[in-house]
Amino acid sequence: MTPEEAKQQIALLSKELEEHNHRYYILSEPTISDYDFDLLLKDLQKLEEQFPEFANENSPTKRVGGAVTKEFVTVKHKFPMLSLSNSYSKEELIDFETRLRKLTTTEPEFTCELKYDGVALGITYKNGELVQAVTRGDGVQGDDITANVRTIRSIPLKLKGSYPDEFEIRGEVFLPHKAFEKINEEKKEAGEQLAANPRNTASGTLKMQDSSVVAKRGLDCYLYSLLGDNLPHDTHFDNLKAAGDWGFKVPNAENKFITKTKTIDGILEFIAYWDKERVNLPFDVDGVVIKVNQFSIQKQLGTTAKSPRWAIAYKFQTEQAHTKLLSVVYQVGRTGAITPVANLEPVLLLGTTVKRASLHNADIIEKLDVREGDYVYVEKGGEIIPKIVGVDLSQRSLDSQPLKYIVNCPECNTELIRREGEAQHYCPNEDGCPPQIKGKMYHFISRKAMNIDGLGEETIDLLYKENLVHTISDIYNLQFDQLIRLERMAEKSANNLLAGVEASKQISFERVLFAMAIRHVGETVAKKLAAHFKNIDALIQASAEELTAVDEIGEKIAVSVREHFSNPRNLREIDKLKAAGLQFEVVEVVREGGTNILEGKSVVVSGVFKNFSRDSIKLEVEKHGGKNVGSISAKTSFVLAGENMGPEKLKKAEKLGIPVLSEEDFVKMIGGVGSEPKQMDLFS
Ligand code: IVH
Repeated sequence: MTPEEAKQQIALLSKELEEHNHRYYILSEPTISDYDFDLLLKDLQKLEEQFPEFANENSPTKRVGGAVTKEFVTVKHKFPMLSLSNSYSKEELIDFETRLRKLTTTEPEFTCELKYDGVALGITYKNGELVQAVTRGDGVQGDDITANVRTIRSIPLKLKGSYPDEFEIRGEVFLPHKAFEKINEEKKEAGEQLAANPRNTASGTLKMQDSSVVAKRGLDCYLYSLLGDNLPHDTHFDNLKAAGDWGFKVPNAENKFITKTKTIDGILEFIAYWDKERVNLPFDVDGVVIKVNQFSIQKQLGTTAKSPRWAIAYKFQTEQAHTKLLSVVYQVGRTGAITPVANLEPVLLLGTTVKRASLHNADIIEKLDVREGDYVYVEKGGEIIPKIVGVDLSQRSLDSQPLKYIVNCPECNTELIRREGEAQHYCPNEDGCPPQIKGKMYHFISRKAMNIDGLGEETIDLLYKENLVHTISDIYNLQFDQLIRLERMAEKSANNLLAGVEASKQISFERVLFAMAIRHVGETVAKKLAAHFKNIDALIQASAEELTAVDEIGEKIAVSVREHFSNPRNLREIDKLKAAGLQFEVVEVVREGGTNILEGKSVVVSGVFKNFSRDSIKLEVEKHGGKNVGSISAKTSFVLAGENMGPEKLKKAEKLGIPVLSEEDFVKMIGGVGSEPKQMDLFS
């Protein structure tokens, strides 16, 4: 390919990918599969590697991140980033509207929009390209977080249609509920403290140094205002609509995220609608913003030092429940972290009955001065568990006593510790405290860790109760005779369990490492550590410096890893697991003429192929590390479909969202028959 051809090809692919991105993330109407999208992206990546002179800051390949910002540069805003004055009642809104009418000569029109609960962002575009993205900061100056913002899929890197040469667009970056839950699930797996709410997590994510981590977190952004000298229209509503045509995610009248009205009744109607409907949105909103639509009137009214006179926010009342706190109990997590939980008199809140609320830690209990027997106010925010926000002192009984935080573990009676700088109390009895022992075992056997078929949490409880397992390595010493004596354990289940345990010995080192439940070592960190150190002995020997030298491994993880491996009990446990035959080193199996490109993938082969017999294509799957399985299930990685594949199979694959690859796709994936494979991480 000549450089000129490469240049054209890069431009073409970039445009096509950005278009698909827009269809997927903004219109929610994708026209190609994720698989095909990844193929195009890999093609572009390869071309950019070959011809780096044509790579561009706003290439779709930048969506996956990579740039690391050590320190964010402070930037002065061209237009100050003001805030809004708040209102909480109908009366305040009526005052706002009456005041406006008195101050203006032309009749004002209003837009009503959602008030997204996230982080404000200003993005500058020049000649249709994103050039800079800055946080609000103190309103006068903020931080340049451009590299991180480029990874937010719903923010266009290049614009479509006809747009002004230069303008700034402002909006709110937020974490949809699903993305927030995923992050917390990962934190839970790594034994870390859960994130409190989507807004703080979005804010923290935007300030992360490694943009490739930001890229994976699923941030989203709604844009809500345009600033510049050459905007196409003289009303806010029309400009936002135009921004939608350029590729931005803006509210629209169809989904009712924005409306125009000339009356206070229209404003109140919009508020009433969303006050009820907001619980069904996939992200948090905390109110409605009312703005004067005409720029001419906006200019006439001007701003105060803090906020424009032509706009006001109406904040929704957060629904609170009022109920009695019956008792406080303390839960012990897998890592020994203690969580105080309030048992409440059941009460209805936003459609669900609330019986318990988290009290987080000792500091929060002290700050609230919450006591057993108190009447308390409970709220539900973006948090999964409702929280107590205050005490109704008017109903406190005279003999109530301040709550005394426990000193000993409620499960094993060991004295609790509190590490410097941490809010949480811990039970340090890692190897003798039942919920910690069992919690570690639940994690060990879980699907993403050792995935032991035939062994679930209930069986672990039973085995523990019957004194058959105390540590993880005991799982590998279980005998048929012991199992068959257990309650509700039939011969078949006992055999399944033992077969599952046996099969787990083939699980890769990175998953064994994840399964060991080292604090802060989640799936991704375990992968990085395994790939870098290759075997457990090298990892045990690694100093804090050697650990932090690994990509994405920071101080916190290094300390935790060092701590884990300096505990002689943990080392003894590793020796036992080694003796049992678990994988403690990276096995790089490359079969003759093959690769490990399909390592860990389950493939269903179906239909008739042009260049292979059924058996030979199955051999090809195995040669590249894949496993052939007979029928489609949720665990299938992909279906390899030839001609005449059964319609039932196809339907099932579609229903379960399993990718269906053609013979050509497959050959491309394994790098052609007998040639170099194409490195693709389609399934990660
Ligand atoms: S307009 C002059 N519209 O609320 C202020 N703000 O204090 C222009 N926000 O920090 C803001 N949704 O980040 C506007 N639809 C919306 C909004 C919105 C959320 C945030 C914004 C600002 C805060 C107001």
